[in-house]
Amino acid sequence: MSAQLDALRQAVSFSPDNVPLLLLLGEACLDQFLFEEAKQNFQRALTHDAHHLGAQLGLARASYQEGNLSEAVVRAEAIAAAHPQNGSVWRLLSRLAFIEGHLEEARDHYRQARKVEPGVRDEGLEKDLAVKPPPALPPAGESNRPLPAGAAEADDDDSDPPSYDPEPKDKGPAPVLNPDLPVEFERPTVKFADVGGMSAVKEEIRMKIIYPLQNAELFRQYGKKTGGGVLLYGPPGCGKTLLSRATAGEIKATFLSIGIHQVLDMWLGNSEKNLHKIFELARQNTPTILFFDEVDALASDRGSMKHSAGRNVINQFLAEMDGAIGTNEGILVLGATNAPWQVDPAFRRPGRFDRVLFVPPPDEDARASIIEIMAQGKPVHKLDARALARRTKDFSGADLKAVFDVASEEKLAIAMRENRVVPITTDDLVRAAKSMQPSTKAWFESAKNYALYANQSGFYNDVLAFLGIKK
Ligand SMILES: Nc1ncnc2c1ncn2[C@@H]1O[C@H](COP(=O)(O)OP(=O)(O)OP(=O)(O)O)[C@@H](O)[C@H]1O
Ligand SMILES: [Mg+2]
Repeated sequence: MSAQLDALRQAVSFSPDNVPLLLLLGEACLDQFLFEEAKQNFQRALTHDAHHLGAQLGLARASYQEGNLSEAVVRAEAIAAAHPQNGSVWRLLSRLAFIEGHLEEARDHYRQARKVEPGVRDEGLEKDLAVKPPPALPPAGESNRPLPAGAAEADDDDSDPPSYDPEPKDKGPAPVLNPDLPVEFERPTVKFADVGGMSAVKEEIRMKIIYPLQNAELFRQYGKKTGGGVLLYGPPGCGKTLLSRATAGEIKATFLSIGIHQVLDMWLGNSEKNLHKIFELARQNTPTILFFDEVDALASDRGSMKHSAGRNVINQFLAEMDGAIGTNEGILVLGATNAPWQVDPAFRRPGRFDRVLFVPPPDEDARASIIEIMAQGKPVHKLDARALARRTKDFSGADLKAVFDVASEEKLAIAMRENRVVPITTDDLVRAAKSMQPSTKAWFESAKNYALYANQSGFYNDVLAFLGIKK
């Protein structure tokens, strides 16, 4: 991590006027708790562009993180007044209000954040505030996937069964459960067909995961080991979690989903033991896809040592992945992150996450098929998926879902008033899309700089290719 920080510092010293780069360095410093340096970089960005929202937000967050709450509040309130449509600042205000014990205010701010930017979420805060995330409009017949007894509270964002989830199918033999472990455990029914677009990524997953698992014996004869890990990275909301679940669905594997924050927060002290139990659970239920979301959280905590238990957990994790502790035959580890630059290279050694796949935002064709998938089971009249796809450049899958949610809510209100089903039209959807900002651009701003300045061993070549930048 510090190598990356150094690379960024160097890049800034070469182009000291590059605002995105200054912001990136500021963010990287924040991650490492280098508050002073973070602030300096944000301040420098502001000298070039006095109203830069990202730099202002960076400063507010730096004040918050270093515990200077009143300064953080002043900064955040000023930003909210100037940029009321920015969800991140409302989220920060909500956090600040919560810390200061103003629960109602915190809830109001959080609701505001979600209202202006449905993509903005903070699950930890949601739990603290005990606010339910606004429910997506359920189509007729939506089924709720049951959680096993003792399973952790579902992380709604990622664990939501896609609303087009078909009726429950045969779930296969019941998995061996360990009620003490806060993991989500399921046999997904989603398949690749439920994931729009992404044909290249799907094909890679077939080649790298599915065929080896299905032909394990053949692979063994040729001296190839199966198993290992694949790291999916890309902008938020573009289907990493969905695709992981669908991979399990394709091969009828057990899907165990573990949030790294859960590992670190809930099990302090006992983390290694529980991590081992999870791998054991996976070993008892092969084929299993073990899905670690937010891998970057684990990796960046290693640097900061915020949790004293952190390093042990990581070492345990790496040892389990290496198969040093038990056989990993029939286990596939999938990891997902939208901050791959925070993932320690130790995670990418052979036998660990040795394969890395970029999950790009959907292109127009992919958007059209996602839109068609999402319209299934909803009262949509004469959908022109193409037309909507053309008007949703840079939208992620999650953004498209939000488009449907907004349009649905509007129509639902009318339907309740008039007491009849009022169909959603393509125009409604286009209007909803126009009222929203696509969320993937901001990610590429960061990713581009890492790809240009910290592209060790060509890690980000796919990002460069996506951006049309020659290596
Ligand atoms: N290709 C897709 N096809 C169908 N739906 C999609 C697709 N991509 C995203 N979605 C929708 O967006 C939602 C969010 O996607 P998902 O959680 O898989 O994204 P992610 O890449 O894991 O995001 P994050 O980085 O925030 O965890 C999904 O539940 C689904 O409704
Ligand atoms: Mg995800």
